[in-house]
Amino acid sequence: MKGVVLAGGLGSRLYPLTKITNKHLLPVYNEPMVYFPIRTLVEAGIRDILLVTGGQNAGDFLRLLGNGEAFGLRQLNYAYQVGEGGIAEALRLAEPFADGEPICVILGDNIMENSINPIVEKFRIRPEGAHIVLKEVPDPNRFGVPVFDDGRVIRIEEKPKRPASQYAVIGIYFYDSTVFRRIANLVPSARGELEITDLNNSYLAEGKLSHSILDGWWTDAGTFESLRLATNLIAETMHQKETEDPWQESSAVALKP
Ligand code: DAU
Repeated sequence: MKGVVLAGGLGSRLYPLTKITNKHLLPVYNEPMVYFPIRTLVEAGIRDILLVTGGQNAGDFLRLLGNGEAFGLRQLNYAYQVGEGGIAEALRLAEPFADGEPICVILGDNIMENSINPIVEKFRIRPEGAHIVLKEVPDPNRFGVPVFDDGRVIRIEEKPKRPASQYAVIGIYFYDSTVFRRIANLVPSARGELEITDLNNSYLAEGKLSHSILDGWWTDAGTFESLRLATNLIAETMHQKETEDPWQESSAVALKP
């Protein structure tokens, strides 16, 4: 399975921090934000990775990440999104890279405690349809929110004013090879973006969307509050690890297996 990290967009909710740099280059405790989603993929055994970014600071990603040496990769692939037409528009750029293979997509501002290896393994065995990952959150109105009927997801609503459940659709998605045909059929939403939620709903409409619930903590880092939360969670996790094993020399938090 191939991996795609989406790190474009304006990061306008973090302005003025994002006035002169890309959101995903900002620090989360001791590392740049983009390190975390890349590590999530690599630690789940995904080594063929495309990073999609855009804007004025795309060159800084190359200077920071190079060929992915910091993650033990031999090569890292890049694509450039012109403008900020939405998450699904950024994903569309991955079509030549995916080359018909199933993909695991992660948003560049999503940070989590545990390894996604078990989910990756399941989708690897049966790479059909799409798979989304849910997490119970205190503020579902900020996210894509699943609507349940009898334990089944029947619809996903993007940032609903009155959320139908306490769950967020987190920024990790698994897609089969029909994903790019589906993106080509999407129409821009009211905010002018090709929405990942519309893409997921297109699988749902055909009964081809499965879901799982994430263990361990998860957060995005795209607002001041969530960036602060992400920083605190990483700092706490690191200090906890140091207490458990004071001889550990690693400067990065390894994901829990
Ligand atoms: O974090 C999970 C949430 O992410 C989901 O629950 C929502 O359904 C999904 O729409 C998304 O919501 P956000 O409002 O947080 O998305 P945001 O615009 O912050 O974009 C998230 C990442 O997607 C961002 O860090 C980089 C990438 N992106 C976004 C846009 C708009 C791109 O690569 N290109 C883009 O044009």
